[in-house]
Amino acid sequence: MAALQELREYVREISELGAAAALAAWDQRTQMPEKGAEARAKVVGRLERLSFERTISSRMGELLAAAEREPGESEVDRALVRVWKRDYTRHRAIPPDLYQKFVETTTRAETVWEKAKAASDFAMFRPHLAEVVGLVREIAKLIGFKESPYDAMVEEFEPGMTVATLRPLLGDLRKELVAFLKELGRGTPPRELPAGDFSLDAQRAFCREALQWIGYDFAAGRLDDSVHPFTMGIAPGDVRVTNRYQASEPFSALFGALHEGGHALYGQGNDPALAWTGLTGGASFGIHESQSRFWENQIGRSLPFWRFAQPHLARHVPSLAQTKPEDIWRHVNRAQPSLIRVEADEVTYNLHICLRFELEVELLEGRLDVAALPERWNRAMVDYLGVTPPDDRRGVLQDVHWSGGMFGYFPSYTLGNLYAAQITEAAEREIPRFWDKVQTGQLTPIREWLRENVHRHGRVYLPEELVKRVTGSGLSAEPFLRYVRAKYGEVYGL
Ligand code: CO
Repeated sequence: MAALQELREYVREISELGAAAALAAWDQRTQMPEKGAEARAKVVGRLERLSFERTISSRMGELLAAAEREPGESEVDRALVRVWKRDYTRHRAIPPDLYQKFVETTTRAETVWEKAKAASDFAMFRPHLAEVVGLVREIAKLIGFKESPYDAMVEEFEPGMTVATLRPLLGDLRKELVAFLKELGRGTPPRELPAGDFSLDAQRAFCREALQWIGYDFAAGRLDDSVHPFTMGIAPGDVRVTNRYQASEPFSALFGALHEGGHALYGQGNDPALAWTGLTGGASFGIHESQSRFWENQIGRSLPFWRFAQPHLARHVPSLAQTKPEDIWRHVNRAQPSLIRVEADEVTYNLHICLRFELEVELLEGRLDVAALPERWNRAMVDYLGVTPPDDRRGVLQDVHWSGGMFGYFPSYTLGNLYAAQITEAAEREIPRFWDKVQTGQLTPIREWLRENVHRHGRVYLPEELVKRVTGSGLSAEPFLRYVRAKYGEVYGL
């Protein structure tokens, strides 16, 4: 028991350093004056370095070895050793010189990527991306893997996930979605609502109210403006969200608020006993994303939700007072193949992810040359979505991830969508009169169910175990496919 106690005290220090770094980073993105940028970057860098050094220290190695010799009784004790040992082992595998080279190369590559994207010039970015891919392959080899170097990378975001699982899952999903898109093409697309000029303050007030509906605790967080919406769990009792607003339409801000609110409820719902152990947060990036997608899409884009929300929207935005809930529901459920991932709807979004997954696996396995990337990208866009990127800016250069060496991250987005549909089916079974509750705005029992089944566990369970506990079965694309077929089939009158 003494060993575990010592480990707990040691990781508490790391977690406190992490909280200070998170607060400094939150301020950097919301409040900091422009001239503070340089000093702030140094402070954040220093705090991160201090916690990183502790994560891989020989002291950490001793504490983990001792804790393994006298393992704890509880699931929390076992998870404590598991998560810290994973970080320790992964990071120790990479020599400091190589890590430094990786940081320098990706920092440079990101700067070049920005310019290359603006100029739509892949050739400018190509040598840098080739260098990043080379380093990622080297790192994957050092971390180790059984089948694919991709496995070593995806593990960072989705513990336990492998190419062997993802390939058939995403391959089948792609085939089904491509076929379903063709079907939708024979349906009647919903009418768009007329554009307008919507007050930003009214939108802010509406989003604040929506966060209250879903049970976001403003005494344990706050809502601010930022260029890109994000959620930051700073410390126990302090999980903050940001949002952005556009005058041309009020729905993207609302869905942004529900999305980030969903992430934040996860952090706010963590068991207080997990504080400062490193076990707060979510089981994986995909499970975290499932909580944002649950509120944004499963609830926020449902007809019962709009029957409840329309009168409230009308209060804040009187110009929409005459718009029927059904018309809003149709408007926010249009499916249209497009070039840009972040603007994609629920049906086409996952196809953008399937494409990126296939290409990044081939890159890491050494079966695809960086030079051939734009051509492969453009061909897949035609095959999957029926659209042709007119230039690389709206094609292979659109996402920042690869320039930063973030390979293996994209599947988490799709896994989030799949888990969200699985969790919704479980909630429908277990919460009496689920959709009646949504339609009357009684969202608290739903939030409580999520807290009990998902949020309070933090990182204690691996994603696979958690999904089995919540839904009774393992990861599957079927609930998501049932969901999009039913909803979009109705919207498009199929
Ligand atoms: Co998200």
